[in-house]
Amino acid sequence: MDEIKDCLSLRSLLAADAPSIAGWARDPEFCREAGWSVDLGHRAHLEFQERIISSPPPELVRLGAVVAGVLVGYVDMHGSEPGTRELGFLIGERSRWGRGLGRQAAAAGLDYGFGEMGLEVIWAEVLERNARSMSILRGLDFTETGTGGEGEFMGEPSVYRRFALDAADWASHDGR
Ligand SMILES: CC(C)(COP(=O)(O)OP(=O)(O)OC[C@H]1O[C@@H](n2cnc3c(N)ncnc32)[C@H](O)[C@@H]1OP(=O)(O)O)[C@@H](O)C(=O)NCCC(=O)NCCS
Repeated sequence: MDEIKDCLSLRSLLAADAPSIAGWARDPEFCREAGWSVDLGHRAHLEFQERIISSPPPELVRLGAVVAGVLVGYVDMHGSEPGTRELGFLIGERSRWGRGLGRQAAAAGLDYGFGEMGLEVIWAEVLERNARSMSILRGLDFTETGTGGEGEFMGEPSVYRRFALDAADWASHDGR
């Protein structure tokens, strides 16, 4: 995948994607990092993913992240306030991590949010112990705006850090 890592694109999720996404939950370590339930069986994960794809909550836009025709993750734009959404991103299967896909998926989400959706501000919050996500947001020029509530990352207490980026800053961002 290294040689084609610059070809990540976003597309709508399809019913046929649910088994792939639910399959990522077979790895308990992945679930812990992603904040997914570790003790749900495969069937329950599958039904949950099928539901989210067929009838997403009205405030959620979830797009599949694809490399060379393979679904490698997804990007969320969440919220209903005019002009702003919360960005979320996830890369499935830990074997794919550390190759720049998370950063590319988040960047593609920003292109989509500021481009197709015409947003003015995109914000995100991540647990401070989630070092990969913190690096991605900082590398994409997000500005830290404050601290959110408390949470748990990999079984350890942590705190949410909030970030925001506006359309003008993204338009002038180098190294997309
Ligand atoms: C967060 C996540 C998307 C990162 O995916 P990824 O494909 O590994 O991301 P990248 O390869 O682009 O690497 C991201 C950064 O983490 C850094 N990194 C890699 N391995 C690391 C490690 N073991 N510890 C800390 N940082 C690490 C990379 O150097 C990179 O930082 P840089 O851009 O400043 O160099 C992925 O781990 C994931 O899906 N996690 C579960 C869901 C989640 O936490 N989503 C974010 C909250 S919305």
